[in-house]
Amino acid sequence: MRNFQRFCCVLFAIFMIAFSCLGLANSSSNVKWRKPNKKSNCDVYQGSWLYDESYPIYDSSACPFIRKEFDCIKYGRSDQLYLHYRWQPTACDLPRFDGQKFLESFQGKKIMFIGDSLSLNQFESLLCLLHAAVPNSNIREEKNNSFPTVIFEDYEVSIMLFHSLLLVDIEHEDMGRVLKLDSLKDGNIWKDMDVLVFNTWHWWYRRGPKQPWDFVQVGDTILKDMDRMVAFHKALTTWAKWVDSDVDTSKTHVIFQGISPSHYNGTAWNEPEVTNCSKETQPISGSNYSSGLPLALYVVEDVLSRIKKPVHLLNITTLSQLRKDAHPSSYNGFKAMDCTHWCIAGLPDTWNELLYKAVINQ
Ligand SMILES: *[C@@H]1O[C@H](CO)[C@@H](O)[C@H](O)[C@H]1NC(C)=O
Ligand SMILES: *[C@@H]1O[C@H](CO)[C@@H](O)[C@H](O)[C@H]1NC(C)=O
Ligand SMILES: *[C@@H]1O[C@H](CO)[C@@H](O)[C@H](O)[C@H]1NC(C)=O
Ligand SMILES: *[C@@H]1O[C@H](CO)[C@@H](O)[C@H](O)[C@H]1NC(C)=O
Ligand SMILES: *[C@@H]1O[C@H](CO)[C@@H](O)[C@H](O)[C@H]1NC(C)=O
Ligand SMILES: *[C@@H]1O[C@H](CO)[C@@H](O)[C@H](O)[C@H]1NC(C)=O
Repeated sequence: MRNFQRFCCVLFAIFMIAFSCLGLANSSSNVKWRKPNKKSNCDVYQGSWLYDESYPIYDSSACPFIRKEFDCIKYGRSDQLYLHYRWQPTACDLPRFDGQKFLESFQGKKIMFIGDSLSLNQFESLLCLLHAAVPNSNIREEKNNSFPTVIFEDYEVSIMLFHSLLLVDIEHEDMGRVLKLDSLKDGNIWKDMDVLVFNTWHWWYRRGPKQPWDFVQVGDTILKDMDRMVAFHKALTTWAKWVDSDVDTSKTHVIFQGISPSHYNGTAWNEPEVTNCSKETQPISGSNYSSGLPLALYVVEDVLSRIKKPVHLLNITTLSQLRKDAHPSSYNGFKAMDCTHWCIAGLPDTWNELLYKAVINQ
């Protein structure tokens, strides 16, 4: 594992040195959209952030779906440069998000985001993107079932959010809350959807009052605790087996959101004294993030490489690492420092442009 990691890092560094275009270009000529590249061998996750006045795609004050965690402008964020960046892959162009085309392509379909609050972040961004494209169409919200659902009725498209911190089960037993690494019961609900976008990581390393379980069960063995990276690997493997055995991937697209990074340690952008994102107003230029990829992403990649059915990694880690400027910091309804989630409008819109590319414009 370690050697493999080092090997990856070296490969990564060579690639970066060869391809990174230093500095953020800032010309309005980038605004014009060239034809999306049809070549499928372009890695759309390799690239850099460019200033583009035509962004953001929508006005967040007109979007009725943003919770107080993410509504940065409403809660006083006044610097707006962070809204005007577009992700530019090195080897091709991304299609601009076309909400109407998205809804037409998914007529009659159900799209579900499954995971923790980073899934909520992407879910609300997608709702804003679609709402902005068809502001006068009929939109109905269902809150009576266990997962919020927003239905674009004119297109019969349902967008759903299934809250699951760890994907595998936590069961309440006499001894306490038991995290069952081999058990995934909610899959019976998920497998009926047409697009599934999974994410889990940020609750795996929590300890103390924020740890959502008391014991861990592997097979018949119950443990007080175990190495969190190993537990994460086992749980994702359970999820992968479920995809292989239960999901009909000829009908259902399966996407894994990848690892969303936080920005509490300025060492990663050469400001070692910085301990939060409160002063950050611009992305890191180029394609290089000095602290490299989080270990959790290697776990995700390892599990995905063993899965037999097609699963797309929405590989948003590096492009998000470069966006130290895109978090709410204290501009949220809680006034607490948040350098983990992302402002809406903002970075999750790019995740959805990449999702759009992955499922429609492949
Ligand atoms: C891009 O241009 C804007 C306004 O034209 C300016 O405020 C900003 O500093 C520039 N950003 C970069 C990265 O050069
Ligand atoms: C939720 O309520 C609506 C009407 O308010 C109903 O049509 C729908 O079937 C309900 N959904 C579930 C899952 O109960
Ligand atoms: C920040 O990251 C650096 C390099 O990984 C590490 O040495 C340092 O301890 C970290 N600082 C904090 C406050 O966690
Ligand atoms: C955030 O960082 C600034 C300095 O960069 C510091 O003054 C402030 O106390 C920090 N706030 C929190 C809540 O950590
Ligand atoms: C990219 O990051 C690595 C690791 O910190 C560093 O050694 C290298 O010089 C950086 N490359 C560029 C082009 O900035
Ligand atoms: C995800 O992106 C990182 C950084 O660009 C890259 O090193 C890694 O190989 C990518 N993973 C996959 C599965 O494409």
